Parts: sequence; C-alpha cells; structure tokens
Amino acid sequence: MNAKTRNVIIDCDPGIDDSLAILLALNSPELNVVGITTVCGNVPTHLGAANALKILALADRLDIPVVMGANRPLVVDYTSAQDTHGDDGLGNSNIPAVTNVHAGQNAVAFIEDTLTEDPTTSILALGPLTNIAEVLQRDPRLFEQVDRFVLMGGSYKSHGNCSPVAEYNFWCDPDAAKIVFDLMPVDIAMVGLDVTRKIVLTPSLLEYMHDTDPEMGAFIKKITRFYFDFHWQYERVIGCVINDPLAVAYMIDPTILQGFDAFTTVATNGVARGQSIVDDHDFWHEPENSHILTTVDTKAFWRLFLQRVTHATEPDLTTTLQQLLVEGA
Ligand code: BDR
Ligand code: CA
Repeated sequence: MNAKTRNVIIDCDPGIDDSLAILLALNSPELNVVGITTVCGNVPTHLGAANALKILALADRLDIPVVMGANRPLVVDYTSAQDTHGDDGLGNSNIPAVTNVHAGQNAVAFIEDTLTEDPTTSILALGPLTNIAEVLQRDPRLFEQVDRFVLMGGSYKSHGNCSPVAEYNFWCDPDAAKIVFDLMPVDIAMVGLDVTRKIVLTPSLLEYMHDTDPEMGAFIKKITRFYFDFHWQYERVIGCVINDPLAVAYMIDPTILQGFDAFTTVATNGVARGQSIVDDHDFWHEPENSHILTTVDTKAFWRLFLQRVTHATEPDLTTTLQQLLVEGA
C-alpha cells in the first residue's frame, strides 16, 4: 500500500449519488476502499448492496467486499427515497445484476472486525447512520483511533430536503444520527446540504463527461436521467445535486471545503425530526464534536471529479470548467 493511501470503509445506501461517490473513491489513489457496507436508506439494504456490486463490476473491483447492514432505522419506521433514486436505486436504469459475487450479511461485524484489525481505518458515511450507531453503541472505543470520520448529512443554515429543517440521512434515522454525534470519540466532519447544494451536475457537465470518457459518461447519463427529472419537477433545477461525492472529495483533499468546529446534536422527533442543531454560539458549553463544512471550492471539486472519474485532462479541463460552472441552487 502506498504510504499516502488511507484505508477507508464506505457505509452507504446506493443510490445514484452514492454510486458516483464510490466511483470517485475507487479512482483515487489516496484511498484504499477496504469494504462497502450498506444500510437501509435510499433503497432497502439488499438493493443497495446489489447496486454497490454493479458499481464495483463497472470499475472491475469486485475484489472489494460488500456487506449488508441494518434493514430498518433504530426507532422510527423506515422510509426509502425511491421517489428520488428510482425503484432500483439507480434511476430505473436496469443495469444487469452481478451474479457471480454475493454480498455478505453483517455490516456491524464487518466494521468491528476491520477497526480491530486496523484501528486507523477512516469511515465515509454516505447514508443514514444506523450501522455506525450500532457499532458505537456496542463499543465506542473502536473508533478512538479512526483517522478521519466524514459523513454526508445534516444541514447548518440551508433548508432541509425532506422537511423544512431536515436532510434525508439524518431524517431517515434521527436516533442513529444523534447517537453518532453523542458517542463518536473523534471529530465528525459534517458535509451537509450547505455545501452539497453547490454541486450541481448540469447537462453540459454530463456532455463533457461523455466526451472525455464515452463509456463512463454513458453510464453516468443512464443513472442520472431519473435524478435530473426529479430535480426539474420538484426543485426547478436543471441538472441534479450530487451530495455524496463531495464527502469523498473532502476525504481526499480537505482544502476543497472550509468550515468551523462546534458542538452539534440532532433532534429525534416532532416537527424538527432529523434537524442538525449546530451550537455555533456555544450556548451549551459542550465540547466541540464536529467540523461543520460551510463553503466549497466548486471548481476544485469538479476538477477532481472529472479528472478521476471521466479522465478529463489539461488544458481542456480548465477552459471547459470556466465555461461550464454554474452556482448551485
Ligand atoms: C443524501 O440523501 C440521499 O438521498 C443521498 O444519497 C445523500 O446521501 C442527501 O440528502
Ligand atoms: Ca447516500
């Protein structure tokens, strides 16, 4: 393993943007993906695992284990996001299932075993936090030496995406999200809607991807069409917000995002269910437990994504980005 390479578990719910996030991670030498664990979120756990295998097959990385986790949130009823991601979780794209490799069964045990073997393994959490909360409840010390814990979820000032105040991953399992902020012994990097809303995959960017890498471009077009339609219908956005790859980008290069440290907790029920509450004025005098990302260098993000996933090269990339980048919604 390269000295600069960081071992990482991706806990996720693929999911269109999770799939793009996995592709970014697999194409980045800074990260060594040691396993993908799935959780019920955008789609039920088994569908997420099937989709993770499809992505690994595309990247020719079926050597990476995929392990299924929680089938339901800790307390609340499960609500999928198949309205956003399609019944199959990949925009109803009918990509053939992987049949020669199967997903494992116990994500909690997989995370525990991996952290026991290499306690510095970093975690990228891109879905509801049920699996992570379950491991933490069993033994929070397992996370004490984790190199980085980065999650996509929550929102600081931006409005929610499933209630006026709540982002989906926290809303889907608010109790798990609260446990993670209560018990995680290392700093939590929160890549929330404040920054991910700035990452809009537009039709022009999609065409550029297709131009630089026809095979990958065609795949991304196929899985994002449904997402594009959803964004236009419900948010009047031309294109789609891709949340999860930004958390991967932060793990690769933290200079892409800027933020501040604070104590954060999550509301678990009532009208504020799933709201991330960031004590930015230190009302509660609680120790800081999180790094809240608030600004993003969108050009740096797209440069990284396009270079890594669709093999864009200079000098074309710089000229193209100058023309194509639009501010997020
Ligand atoms: C988050 O919820 C899911 O729909 C996406 O995959 C992302 O992780 C955005 O709120
Ligand atoms: Ca996700």
